[in-house]
Amino acid sequence: MNSEDSLIQIELNVLQDIATIIADSRGQIVESLEKCLKILKKNLDLENCVIYKLEDDMLNIFASIDFNKHQKIISEYRLGEGATGLAAKSMEPVVIENVHNDILFLNKSGNRSSDTISYIAVPMIVEHETIGVLATNLTKSTKIDFDDTVRILSIISSLFAQSMYSHFVLEDEKEKLKDLKQYYKMEWDSKVHNFGDIIGESKKMKDVYRVIERIAQSDVTILVRGETGTGKELVAAAIHKRSRRAEEPFVKLNCAAITDSLLESELFGHEKGAFTDAKETRKGRFELADKGTLFLDEIGDISASAQVKLLRVLQEREFERVGGSKTIKVNVRLVAATNRNLEQMVKDGEFREDLYYRLNVIPIDLPPLRKRGEDIKLLVNFFLERAVKNHKKMVTITDEAMDKLMGYPWPGNVREMENTIERIVLMGDEKGINAADMLLLLPALKNEKLIEEYKTISMENRTLDELEKEAIAKALKDCSNNQSKAAEMLGITVRQIGYKVKKYGI
Ligand SMILES: Nc1ncnc2c1ncn2[C@@H]1O[C@H](COP(=O)(O)OP(=O)(O)O)[C@@H](O)[C@H]1O
Ligand SMILES: [Mg+2]
Repeated sequence: MNSEDSLIQIELNVLQDIATIIADSRGQIVESLEKCLKILKKNLDLENCVIYKLEDDMLNIFASIDFNKHQKIISEYRLGEGATGLAAKSMEPVVIENVHNDILFLNKSGNRSSDTISYIAVPMIVEHETIGVLATNLTKSTKIDFDDTVRILSIISSLFAQSMYSHFVLEDEKEKLKDLKQYYKMEWDSKVHNFGDIIGESKKMKDVYRVIERIAQSDVTILVRGETGTGKELVAAAIHKRSRRAEEPFVKLNCAAITDSLLESELFGHEKGAFTDAKETRKGRFELADKGTLFLDEIGDISASAQVKLLRVLQEREFERVGGSKTIKVNVRLVAATNRNLEQMVKDGEFREDLYYRLNVIPIDLPPLRKRGEDIKLLVNFFLERAVKNHKKMVTITDEAMDKLMGYPWPGNVREMENTIERIVLMGDEKGINAADMLLLLPALKNEKLIEEYKTISMENRTLDELEKEAIAKALKDCSNNQSKAAEMLGITVRQIGYKVKKYGI
């Protein structure tokens, strides 16, 4: 075997050993890389092998052999500085043949023996971006020549780059998951998340569904408006679920539930030591929701200074953590909700107009339950079925009790109904819930004035068609489904009643 063959053999062995170590690194990235550097040193007689990591335009030692603690700290290069910085910037290997007379050789660590002749810095590139630099000294005893060293180091540096990059991506993901887990745990503890379907067949709700279907796939900001308990959060979750972001986090913050001073840190996070209680760096909701959806509930309740800060994120899509200087960019779809009249607040100078326009790109107005009485029965049955299942207890609601439920204006909307049905199932039995029980379970029903008022309102809200349908249904019931008798009672012809029965699907 001539000397050239044996050199190739050495190179192949080195590559094989390095590839094996890297494939086996299992999260111990620094240790593995340093093992590889030792192989380079031993087999090729390279000195001071070192791997720099590029971060925020600075190169710092990530893995090395032959550097002491102090040398590690001082060996720091800006992008473009010296041979190392130049390799990172130009994305080409930089070689200094004679370190003794080249100004590019800065040797900040002072780590150089009298044997050192040359210095080689090879960029580590992944997807057209430099993530670090592999650098080494050649000495008098280095076995392979200059060009060969550059060649083999280029191969090795791309192996290193790949494994370092995968490691960083994995670490990022892990950290993100950890933060999210913490957040979701908190959420689950406070309340069970409801990603369930939205119940309601009224025209007003159908209009809402149409808007949701239309806008879910885009990234436009949505403002959901409606009284408390009308399902604003449910709608926000439904938008997320139907969006391209469905697999990413859905993160929410109730702006009214926290003090103004805490709001900023909840939204943007804080650095360790930013204030007395900030013992650790914590990500805010905007960062947690990166790539996903952020739901800001009760947006009308934030202070003037919080409005300014929120406006900036919406305009620039970037922010700093409290007590931090690093600018963080995020990709977040915003859904905001409020039960307050923002237009009026703008007029009264309580809410910034510019923020209002940023938020109110697409408004979704949720009707109160009393304006969609026809959904009451559906909702009652939906919640009843669910509660019966949860409590493993059979309870029925009699017709007269249902009439009471339908004649009630539900000021607390769907939430009030959900709670009422829960009580019905807890307190009811097989005999069923009757009208008298209802008065106990929903004391507001005793307020006759309230109920009378609602009757008038709900009549006014009904269309002529609805009234006609009801009248015909009632007449048929009274006449035991005899159409000609019913027609006579209503003063219309048999043909007319036949037509209407078909039209309304009675
Ligand atoms: N249309 C609906 N169908 C089924 N459940 C609903 C509907 N609207 C509201 N809810 C339920 O009522 C409760 C209150 O809804 P939520 O979205 O929190 O209202 P809001 O945010 O407007 O106060 C939740 O438990 C929600 O699941
Ligand atoms: Mg709510």
